[in-house]
Amino acid sequence: MDKIVVLDFGSQYSHLICRRIREFSVYAELVPFDISNDKLKQMNPKGIIFSGGPSSVYNKDSPRPDSRVFGMNLPLLGICYGHQLIVDNFGGRVKRSNKEYGHSTLTIDNSASLLGGVGDSLRAWMSHGDEAEKIPDNFKVIGHTERSHAAAIANESESIYGIQFHPEVVHTENGIRILKNFVLDICKAKQEWTMEGFIEKTVSDISKIDGNVLCGVSGGIDSTVAALLIHKAIGNRLKCVFVDNGLLRLDEEHEIEKMFKENFAVNFSPINAKKRFVDGLKGITDPEKKRKIVGEEFVRIFTEFAEKNGPFKWLAQGTLYPDVIESGVSKGPAAVIKTHHNVGGLPDWMKLEVLEPLRELYKDEVRKVAAILGVPKRLLMRHPFPGPGLAVRIIGEVTENKLHISKLASKIVEEELELSGWYDKVWQAYAAVGDDKAVGVVGDERKYGNIVMVRVVESIDAMTADWTRLPHEILAKISNRITNEIDEVTWVSYVISSKPPATIEPQ
Ligand code: XMP
Repeated sequence: MDKIVVLDFGSQYSHLICRRIREFSVYAELVPFDISNDKLKQMNPKGIIFSGGPSSVYNKDSPRPDSRVFGMNLPLLGICYGHQLIVDNFGGRVKRSNKEYGHSTLTIDNSASLLGGVGDSLRAWMSHGDEAEKIPDNFKVIGHTERSHAAAIANESESIYGIQFHPEVVHTENGIRILKNFVLDICKAKQEWTMEGFIEKTVSDISKIDGNVLCGVSGGIDSTVAALLIHKAIGNRLKCVFVDNGLLRLDEEHEIEKMFKENFAVNFSPINAKKRFVDGLKGITDPEKKRKIVGEEFVRIFTEFAEKNGPFKWLAQGTLYPDVIESGVSKGPAAVIKTHHNVGGLPDWMKLEVLEPLRELYKDEVRKVAAILGVPKRLLMRHPFPGPGLAVRIIGEVTENKLHISKLASKIVEEELELSGWYDKVWQAYAAVGDDKAVGVVGDERKYGNIVMVRVVESIDAMTADWTRLPHEILAKISNRITNEIDEVTWVSYVISSKPPATIEPQ
């Protein structure tokens, strides 16, 4: 299959470049910036893109690709830092400048090839400190802004291009058109990446494995789709286990069982382990300890299941592409802020091999696969939910009372967002609860009740997030319903912290 390779120089948008290209059905892969030239050649790309990144090309330790990449005779597009690398490599000069962040108007000086079909000017998203002062010989300026006289440059005969702005972000007008010009017209890549093709190839690959597969399903879209693909390939050699840990959303355990039983013919074993988890969490307040306890309990339950129902050769997981890639620059501190877990990893002696059928896919692609496989719309559109469940949405000890409050209040938040049409526009929406109390008046009596924290965020990939500016009427409705319908709650607050510095979950 034709592919475009994106070298990752550490921009927060690197994955977005691949996603955008895949949206028009060309396969794109993100690789570390220092990939060896041999490996790059083996990948046989139709073209190469350099992502942006936080470094400056004149710093001694700035990330540089293997220099042979410039001589591969392949079309090359540099974005932001990648643009500056191209300028620098071919003998131009990059200078430090004032930071330019936000929209600028790009005036098109030459609408051939890369900037074809975008008109005379466009609103372009800028996020840079350095800029090209002198462009290399054999290059010409094809677009400029008020601040950057060489915001887009080209060496047409060699098919090498550099742009200071970010075509991959939605804030750049016609950004997709620019990427299409590069990928389809300049690289001549064929549009061969379809989810139907992915399903066919994956099912065919999995059908060649021997032995039984154990798959922990959570009711989330990733593990469900992983299970369905494997089931298509090997039928009842797949066994799915669903652990009800009592930390799920209101009534979710019943919904998940019903969904599996009504829609899919997979071998599905629900395990009610509410008591084990809630007992295990008694008296524990430290967030990391809570995660560890939940993770370990999952492992014990899987182990018991495997002993009774095995032997199993494989453990299936719904790992996605962004979790697989190791950026060549740094994964940043985000990766270690909290110990995320899916099933927590199984003990060595189980010696299961890991099967990850979704490791090439982005979330939006998983949704497409799910739709093709007949996953009900409700699950397709359901917000992500953390593996340790309400254990990380409850601050302090997990108690029956706090579970009750968090489940009911979150249900109210979800219902009100669905009613007002906001549910599908936001990334996550829930109510957290801790031990703080506030006074309220019920009838003529004062009482101390819990404070609920409503959190609604927008995000593209959960790496960063912004709190949602919900209309006040919706917030008022949510607040009224929570205090009216949940006796234990006296105050409702709305969380207005973005990520960073906050995270999406409170723990
Ligand atoms: P944070 O809170 O780190 O969350 O901003 C980012 C995204 O990850 C989800 N999340 C988890 N998912 N296991 C998971 O499977 C975990 O331990 C976990 N912790 C957070 C969170 O809901 C958000 O979408």
